[in-house]
Amino acid sequence: MELTNRPRRLRRTEEIRRLCRETRLSPDALIYPIFVDEALSGVRPIPSLPGQNHYGLDSVCQAVEECLAHGVSRCILFGLPAHKDACGSSAWVERGVIQEAVRAIKAKYPAFCVITDVCMCEYTDHGHCGILCGHDVDNDQTLDILSRIAVSHAAAGADMVAPSDMMDGHVAALRRALDENGYQNTAIMAYSAKYASAFYGPFREAAGSAPAFGDRKSYQMDPHNRKEALRECALDAAEGADILMVKPALSYLDVIRECADTFDLPLCAYSVSGEYAMIKSAAAAGLVDERRILCETALSVFRAGANMLITYYAKELADAIRQGEIG
Ligand code: PBG
Repeated sequence: MELTNRPRRLRRTEEIRRLCRETRLSPDALIYPIFVDEALSGVRPIPSLPGQNHYGLDSVCQAVEECLAHGVSRCILFGLPAHKDACGSSAWVERGVIQEAVRAIKAKYPAFCVITDVCMCEYTDHGHCGILCGHDVDNDQTLDILSRIAVSHAAAGADMVAPSDMMDGHVAALRRALDENGYQNTAIMAYSAKYASAFYGPFREAAGSAPAFGDRKSYQMDPHNRKEALRECALDAAEGADILMVKPALSYLDVIRECADTFDLPLCAYSVSGEYAMIKSAAAAGLVDERRILCETALSVFRAGANMLITYYAKELADAIRQGEIG
C-alpha cells in the first residue's frame, strides 16, 4: 500500500513517542493543598478525602517534608480556625492558624513556596465567603476584610495570596492593601474563573466551610458560561493579578483552553476535591487504575493550556513524572 503519511511512524517506539510529545509535565508545576487545623495536635485523616490529612500547627512541617520527599516544592494553605464568628475575625489576626502555619513553614523551609487561600468561608459562622447583609454577601464590606486577611498573610511571610471569594474588585483591593503595607513583592494568584460547582463537596466537609443557608451562586460563576470567564480573567488581569486561575479543572477544560489562548499571564488550574474523590472512590471500587487515571486527567489539564496545577494528587503525580509514567 502506498501511503505518504503514516502517523504510526512516530508512535513506533517509546523513545520516538517521548521525543514527539506535545505536552510535558514537571513537578515544578504542581501545588499541593494543605489543611491546617488550629485545634488539632498531630495529624488526622480527612474522611471526605481519603489519603489526605488535617495537620496541626505542630505537624504542618511534616506535610511540607512529605511534599519535598516527592519533589513537590509548593503548597496552598487552608485553615480551620478554633473560633468562628459573623465577620470571620480569626482570619486576619496575627496569631491566626494560617499566619502561624506560614511562619512555622518559612522558619524551617524558607525556600518552600507558600501560597495562602484568602477567603472567609472557613472563618464565618454562617459559612459564606463574605460579610452578610441580610441573606446577601455585601461585596464592598467584604473587600475590606479580604484586604486585611491578605496583608496578615503577607506579613507572616506568604509568597503569594490567592483570593477565592469571587467578590468584584477583589484583586484591586488586595493589590492596593498589599502595596500600602509594603508588600509590593507578594504576588496575587487570583481564582478568576471560579464556578459554583458541586465538585467542592468533599472540601467543604474537610474545611467545615459549607454555607449554613443558601448557596454561593450569587458570587461564584454559573457553570453554563464561557465568555463570562474571559471577562472575569480580564478584570483580574487589569486589576493586577499575577496569575489567573480556572476552577474546577476537569469539567472546564474548554475554559482553560480559552483563557490560555487569550491571556498572557500564567494560568493555574485547580483540580478540586470532588475530582480527587471521584477517582479515589472509583479506584477503591476496583473500577479504574488510580495511577493511570490520575496521570491522564492531570495531563488533560496541561494539554488544555494550564501552566500549573493545584491537586491533591501532587505527590503521586510528581512520582509518576519522575518515574517516566507520564510527562
Ligand atoms: C474557599 C474555597 C473552596 C475551595 C477552595 N477555596 C470552597 C468553596 O468555594 O466552597 C474548593 C476546593 C476544593 O473543592 O478542592 N472559598
